[in-house]
Amino acid sequence: MSEVETYADLTEAESSVLRSVHDACAAVYRTRQMNETTRPDCFRFLYSVLGKVPAPNGKVDYLEVGSFKGASLVVIASILRSFGRLGEIVSIDPYFAEGYEETPPFMGKTIVKPSTEGTMRSAFRLYETAGLTVTHARDISSKAMIDLIRADRRFDLVYIDGNHEKLNPMVDTALGLQLLRPGAFLMLDDINWPDVKPIARLCREHLRFVGNGFGKACFQLEA
Ligand SMILES: C[S@@+](CC[C@H](N)C(=O)[O-])C[C@H]1O[C@@H](n2cnc3c(N)ncnc32)[C@H](O)[C@@H]1O
Repeated sequence: MSEVETYADLTEAESSVLRSVHDACAAVYRTRQMNETTRPDCFRFLYSVLGKVPAPNGKVDYLEVGSFKGASLVVIASILRSFGRLGEIVSIDPYFAEGYEETPPFMGKTIVKPSTEGTMRSAFRLYETAGLTVTHARDISSKAMIDLIRADRRFDLVYIDGNHEKLNPMVDTALGLQLLRPGAFLMLDDINWPDVKPIARLCREHLRFVGNGFGKACFQLEA
């Protein structure tokens, strides 16, 4: 994708944010395209959804479960910042000694995802390069989210993108719901994975549906 094609369908405001994200990614990872969130089509979807996040305190406090290389966090936080609505950012990821195993349904085989201490350091460098202050909990989500609940922390947006297999997405969603303020947004990633799909279906049935695209679905709690 050429430079012109990359930003062609975006408004000036959108392309200015995406350009700054791409510049930060290039500085740390030597690539402007990290994953779907740094692609213009998915970026536009996120931009439109994030414009609707209610924030009773004026700013959007954001929790991301599964930060990996930091790409989605930087995209989401940069969009909120461009709206003048970025509050606190908290991320959760254990960053394993030797990565972790997962079996993406579209691959049909088990792979080792390189989510390690080195990945964490690169993610932190990306946040710094993007000018973002992030509080990171280096722990599994079930433990870190219970700590946040006990500490009475609440968020306006929770993005669940951790372990997508077994009961993990169910536990993350249940704990995420406890961490949301009334009227806040819950966003799930990889809703087509077998163990995420039923969670997304239940959310669609019992929460207000905001929008979906690029494997993500966004829901709103009752105010
Ligand atoms: C798909 S990646 C996240 C990608 C990232 N959100 C992005 O789009 O740039 C999943 C991440 O979840 C983390 N993870 C795996 N098991 C976890 C657990 N039990 N609790 C929290 N995070 C976990 C992995 O270390 C990995 O970094």
